[in-house]
Amino acid sequence: MKRRLLISLLAISGLALFVFAADKAMDIYNGTLEERVNALAKIQPGLGTVMIEYGNRFTNTYYAAKGGNWGMAQYQLKEAVEIQEVGEITRPKNAPMLRSFEHGYLDTLKADIENKDWASFQQHYDAAVAGCNACHVATGHAYVEFQLPPAPAMDYVNFNKKTDPAK
Ligand code: HEC
Repeated sequence: MKRRLLISLLAISGLALFVFAADKAMDIYNGTLEERVNALAKIQPGLGTVMIEYGNRFTNTYYAAKGGNWGMAQYQLKEAVEIQEVGEITRPKNAPMLRSFEHGYLDTLKADIENKDWASFQQHYDAAVAGCNACHVATGHAYVEFQLPPAPAMDYVNFNKKTDPAK
């Protein structure tokens, strides 16, 4: 009986040591440079987090263009691509699809914004929404279906201020 207790105690402390070791590796301040870099990598935003900002930027791009705030539309689209690039780095497996989505759909929106062409923008926007959702299906996330909300993702910015895109 005593022997069994000793064995279980040893097993538990072994497990505790293992958990402790795993914890230690996930410390951004202590450990080898590689361990600290790995810990930093682990806490970078994955696609789930990135996509929330992507969706907000994409929504805002629409409302800025609709309101004739072309400078803001250009800015929101640029920021969407920047957060997309974060996703490409943290989830390299999806990088080729993200890039082909960008060049297949967002490049045309960028041109529409530069030309301040709302009619063409609307058509390309609908195509881009279909592109977003096609990728969700392709990556096994068919339950994620983007739909344009009735208003911009934030109401503390004036999306209707008339401005021109930067040339
Ligand atoms: C690489 C293909 C791909 C493209 C292109 C793509 N997505 Fe995603 N999206 C994903 C994946 C993968 C997930 C699930 C992420 C996860 O499981 O961590 C996701 C999740 C989401 C989510 C759910 C986020 C959450 O956690 O609540 C939203 C919203 C979203 N995408 C919006 C968009 C919008 C808007 C576009 C187009 C402008 C877009 N996505 C384009 C792959 C893509």
